[in-house]
Amino acid sequence: MITDYLQLTTTTVLLIATPIFYFIYHRIFRYFIFDQRTKVTKGKVSRGKCPPFFPNGWFWIINSCDLKKGDVKAISYCGRDVVLFRGTNSKPYVLDGFCPHMGAHLGVGGKIRHGTCIECPFHGWTFDGETGDCVLSGIESKIIRTADKYEYHDIEKCTAVPTNDNTMDFYLKKVNEQEEIKIKRYICREVNGSILVWYHSDEKLREHPLYEPFDMINELKTYNMTARGESINYVNCHVQEIPENGADVRHFDFLHQSIIDIIFPFFKFSWSMLSERATNPRLHELMTHSNPEVNAYKMRLLDTFINDSNRPYINVLSLNSYLQIFGKHKIFIFNATGFQMGPSVVYLFLWSPYFQVSFFQTVTPLEKFNQRVMHRIFSTQPIPYWLSALMLMGEVKQLFSDMNIWNNKIFGAKLSYNMKNDADKCLHSWRNWYAQFYEGCYDFQSKSLSW
Ligand code: FES
Ligand SMILES: [Fe+2]
Repeated sequence: MITDYLQLTTTTVLLIATPIFYFIYHRIFRYFIFDQRTKVTKGKVSRGKCPPFFPNGWFWIINSCDLKKGDVKAISYCGRDVVLFRGTNSKPYVLDGFCPHMGAHLGVGGKIRHGTCIECPFHGWTFDGETGDCVLSGIESKIIRTADKYEYHDIEKCTAVPTNDNTMDFYLKKVNEQEEIKIKRYICREVNGSILVWYHSDEKLREHPLYEPFDMINELKTYNMTARGESINYVNCHVQEIPENGADVRHFDFLHQSIIDIIFPFFKFSWSMLSERATNPRLHELMTHSNPEVNAYKMRLLDTFINDSNRPYINVLSLNSYLQIFGKHKIFIFNATGFQMGPSVVYLFLWSPYFQVSFFQTVTPLEKFNQRVMHRIFSTQPIPYWLSALMLMGEVKQLFSDMNIWNNKIFGAKLSYNMKNDADKCLHSWRNWYAQFYEGCYDFQSKSLSW
């Protein structure tokens, strides 16, 4: 044996191996990341008639830890090209990506100036993240820059501006003189370890979010929960398909029954579920749970997170999960209270007699039919790292079952609902709720996006 040859005792081997194994374990599981980097699922390109591709709301754009002080990034999601940067004051800023001088991307080679500004890499024009104003660079205070504005008379055919004399052809015409230069600024918030940006197709609402994303920090502190990992998956479907799943009561019985078939062939999940708009005056009554502890937790969550200003933009879910053994004995595993807030963000709070876990879920459209789905898990301290990683993978397994459907379906523009059954009633109500997030998006899409 090599140990004899090296004259090592069992104790010495253990003393050497244990820290190494613990180090590896700690590195992998302390914050476990499952990243489906390759967009493996190409699916169909045609999805039939669809609502607009980029609804109005808050969208995840980056994890906080990936944007350090002074970092500058080019981001292209939801049909917008923007520059994202973190000022020397630690605040994140999002501005239109393209410089109005000559069109360079501020996010590719741009530099932080004046603490909150970004300087264009091409000729140094500088834009304030706080206001979007173009300010003079190289001097202490921020002075707004003015410039004349020109545009092509006819950029596509390149015809000259008609003139009375034939001395010279002009293709560019002046449209404004000494105008203050400004670019679009987008509102962003840093919550739950992510930076979210507010996109709205109505220019008047671009800087005025209709509601605020939840910050789970107090809730997490109360239960001493920490972020334990995240899964990142790419799905080829219309953005609505993914949040709609949360209101689809019936599909659980078909897609989400199995646990790990090979290891536990006799164990199945069974589910019961409710989905209600937060504006329903009977919300508390309808969400009442028979287990007093679950009920108290749920009612507190409803009171904590829903208020008069965000109520119209929230749909609430309550999901019971049971374990069925040999298709008979039912054991209650957990209840999840979910807040679907706007078109792309979900907060899930699981209460179980055995553990406590929360999820922050986002979907961000990268392209028309390409969605980035992120699920971040938070759990209480006593849950070991390997177990929170396993729970996350259990959730990914369920997501993969949905992805099989999403990657191959058309968007259901014409629907056959059986309104005698609660499941289809629920979907009908959910679609009517979700449609509010498309207001004005069609016009934005047809005017502002080129594809
Ligand atoms: S293109 Fe940005 S300064 Fe010229
Ligand atoms: Fe599902």
